[in-house]
Amino acid sequence: MSIRPVKKLTQAQPTMEGAGVHLRRAFGFGNTSDTDPFLLLDDFRNERPEDYLAGFPWHPHRGIETITYVLAGTVDHGDSLGNRGAITAGDVQWMTAGSGIIHQEMPKGDNQGRMHGFQLWANLPSSKKMIEPRYQEIQSKDVPVMTEDDGSTARIICGDFWGQKGLVDGIAANPTYIDVSVPPMKKKILPVEVQSNAFAYIFAGSGKFRGASDARPVPTERYEEGVVDPMVTAGNRSLILFDRGDEVEVQAGEEGVRFLLISGRPLREPVAWRGPIVMNTQEELARAFDELRRGTFIRDRN
Ligand code: CO
Repeated sequence: MSIRPVKKLTQAQPTMEGAGVHLRRAFGFGNTSDTDPFLLLDDFRNERPEDYLAGFPWHPHRGIETITYVLAGTVDHGDSLGNRGAITAGDVQWMTAGSGIIHQEMPKGDNQGRMHGFQLWANLPSSKKMIEPRYQEIQSKDVPVMTEDDGSTARIICGDFWGQKGLVDGIAANPTYIDVSVPPMKKKILPVEVQSNAFAYIFAGSGKFRGASDARPVPTERYEEGVVDPMVTAGNRSLILFDRGDEVEVQAGEEGVRFLLISGRPLREPVAWRGPIVMNTQEELARAFDELRRGTFIRDRN
């Protein structure tokens, strides 16, 4: 067993997307080798309806999966395949765009004007970029929740965790996506598959995570003596990229800590990315945009 130390600690940055939605981007649109197979994570927690109601009107996706996890409010969606629906607090929508969909995602606040949630993009391997589009929608009541004796909980959105399996299935990169809460001052060791890239995104309270790999390895009992503090403190909107290992260690602060713990096997393929379309080569990207112009982007599956 080895603890994955913190490789990098960053803060989500304010940005604007869609028709003028104010959100924070934890990562995306850069070098994605550290997070491979994941391309982007947006934090769209927002308290001001005028900053999100314009939403994400009709736009295409190809070659990726978008995973929407709502904490408060509702996202109405509709697409070129005739799907319609709403995802609301606690729900998950795992959309495999595959060969292509054109959809819209329109956030609506709850009765206090809050719209809270996250959107993660996962890349598809070259062999699956042109597969048939697929949706998996998991309602909040069906998301498995595991609770440990110390009061720690894990909502399992995808993957195996604490002996329980999430309902999202058939995902190429074998990802694990967990919403973890650790009570105040509790320490937790969480398993993470050793082949995977892994990150945590903190969205409530704060916690300390095992420090960077260049920190001197010292026996655990010496931490308390203050000889070396190998722990990194991370609060709201912090992204932690983990180094290699098969476990993650967190010590919750006085308010406890809640974070997304996400991992997946890297694809290690070339990335050709423009906006909402991610392929392997510039030729494939050019073809996708050409098909959009010609109106042949959506594959007829009949
Ligand atoms: Co979209």
